[in-house]
Amino acid sequence: TPPPATPSTPAPRRKQPEDLRSHRWYGVKDLRSFGHRSRTAQMGFSRDDYLGKPVIAILNTWSDMNSCHTHFKQRVEEVKRGVWQRGGFPVEIPAMSLGEAFQKPTTMLYRNLLAMEAEELIRSYPADGVVLMGGCDKTTPGLVMGALAMNLPTIFVPAGPMLRGDYKGSVLGSGSDTWKYWAELRAGNITEDDWQEVEDGIARSAGTCMTMGTASTMTSAAEVLGLTLPGASSIPAVDSRHAMMATHTGKRIVDMVWEDLKPLDLLTPASFDNAVTAVLGLGGSTNAIVHLIAMARRAGVPLDLARFDELARSTPVIANLRPGGKYLMEDFYYAGGLRAFLREMGPLIDGSQRTCNGLTLGENIADATTYNADVIRPRSEALLESGGLAVLHGNLAPSGAVIKPAAMEPHLRKHTGPAVVFRNYDDLAARIDSPELVVTKDSVIVLQSAGPQGAPGMPEWGQLPIPQKLLKEGVRDMVRISDARMSGTSYGACVLHVTPESHVGGPLALVRDGDLVTLDIEARRIDMAVSDEEIAKRRADWQKPIPKFSRGYGVMFLKHVQQADTGCDFDFLAPDYAEGAGQGEP
Ligand code: FES
Ligand code: MG
Repeated sequence: TPPPATPSTPAPRRKQPEDLRSHRWYGVKDLRSFGHRSRTAQMGFSRDDYLGKPVIAILNTWSDMNSCHTHFKQRVEEVKRGVWQRGGFPVEIPAMSLGEAFQKPTTMLYRNLLAMEAEELIRSYPADGVVLMGGCDKTTPGLVMGALAMNLPTIFVPAGPMLRGDYKGSVLGSGSDTWKYWAELRAGNITEDDWQEVEDGIARSAGTCMTMGTASTMTSAAEVLGLTLPGASSIPAVDSRHAMMATHTGKRIVDMVWEDLKPLDLLTPASFDNAVTAVLGLGGSTNAIVHLIAMARRAGVPLDLARFDELARSTPVIANLRPGGKYLMEDFYYAGGLRAFLREMGPLIDGSQRTCNGLTLGENIADATTYNADVIRPRSEALLESGGLAVLHGNLAPSGAVIKPAAMEPHLRKHTGPAVVFRNYDDLAARIDSPELVVTKDSVIVLQSAGPQGAPGMPEWGQLPIPQKLLKEGVRDMVRISDARMSGTSYGACVLHVTPESHVGGPLALVRDGDLVTLDIEARRIDMAVSDEEIAKRRADWQKPIPKFSRGYGVMFLKHVQQADTGCDFDFLAPDYAEGAGQGEP
């Protein structure tokens, strides 16, 4: 698979040097511009290095606390190389990294903070064009949401997946195999030594989780939206072609500034439909629902849960990737990557949508080839005919909940069982493995207070653990319900994103032990057999929990975060939020 290239002939220039945004910093003759120029000289650049050239702000989410972005320290040099070659002036600006593997309680608490940081960095510095370097879960939506608010020419460099994991001759997948072997350890089927070998072999190189988890789901979505060079999201992080892609990206952003090609020129209802369709066809992460809705709202494009369900009913899952399928991202790349996948999706993808390289999505995938038809299946041999995701409603989730039917045991698709309720995560941790817990394989495990405000930050707690005594009996899947999210690398019959969340008094807060709960995926229902009168009575007795923060960022988060069905963005970051006058442009 060749690295993505930039078009050999850029489109005509629509801007002149005096039209550049950075001209106001560098090009004018006043006291302030003296300061900007003298301080650029302080960094060793002379006027002909930057005057009249597009300033390219490279927002780099490298950090020693982000194992997925280790290579960005080097990759940024390759982006800069491309910018220099094309006659731009690259400036690297670090942005908060959101290292999924390390940050507590959850990176989701900080996605909007990264979006705000990205927006304000772009606004306050002399940027003409923007390169976003991200990939680990929330970094993609966070960076894109912030950049959309500024709407300067922007291109995204996806970190790319890490290499396959390896353990005693078999392949290990991020996340998925962690849960799998953890369950085997708790069931007594593997030893502590085996477990440590898994630990040492599961993450072998820089790059994002190499299953079709949230990272690859979101970078693939970014590519489908036209925000990356074609093919960019599938290249393994440490492949030389990833470095070539970074250099091409640096070249392309300079052209985009002259062409004045901006993200809001690319993002349309049809391009978001493409992104949703691709996520479904990839068997992608449920987290994409929250992030794509948030991104669409920033772009002023209507997108809601109903649209996901509608598209899911007619979209086959054709990428045979874990956690729902067999292979890993490295295999996906060798099989042709996202371009080949999109080509196999055929008429389900609207090829007329424009992308950042100036061509349409259809033009970018026209010559794509599938090299392994078991990894990227033809639609006639799909893994699933439809239903990669399902949106549920019912008296337990009046504003919606989601489930990934592709990654659960089929016998649970229609299931009724008595609720076993945990008030919060600590309660769950304290009691789930207790021999006294009254639970059978038919029980429905319910976790309250794990949503955007309740947890807070809507962590990936939604793959609730199977009680140890049931694990020992061989049970590996049960119906589980929460207002949390679930890691994109997880699997199981987990009803997620229950809205409104229990912390704000959603019906999830009112479920009690023994209530009969029914999941019916065909009917798209999630209900408890509790009468409306009884629900009203319980609500009258319900007490609003104490807010989780008394000061700082957390207070702002709790005041402004919205519910999962609208993307968990802050209310005041919506493009049509109006308080006062002016746009704050420096
Ligand atoms: Fe970074 Fe999974 S931990 S992508
Ligand atoms: Mg994840």
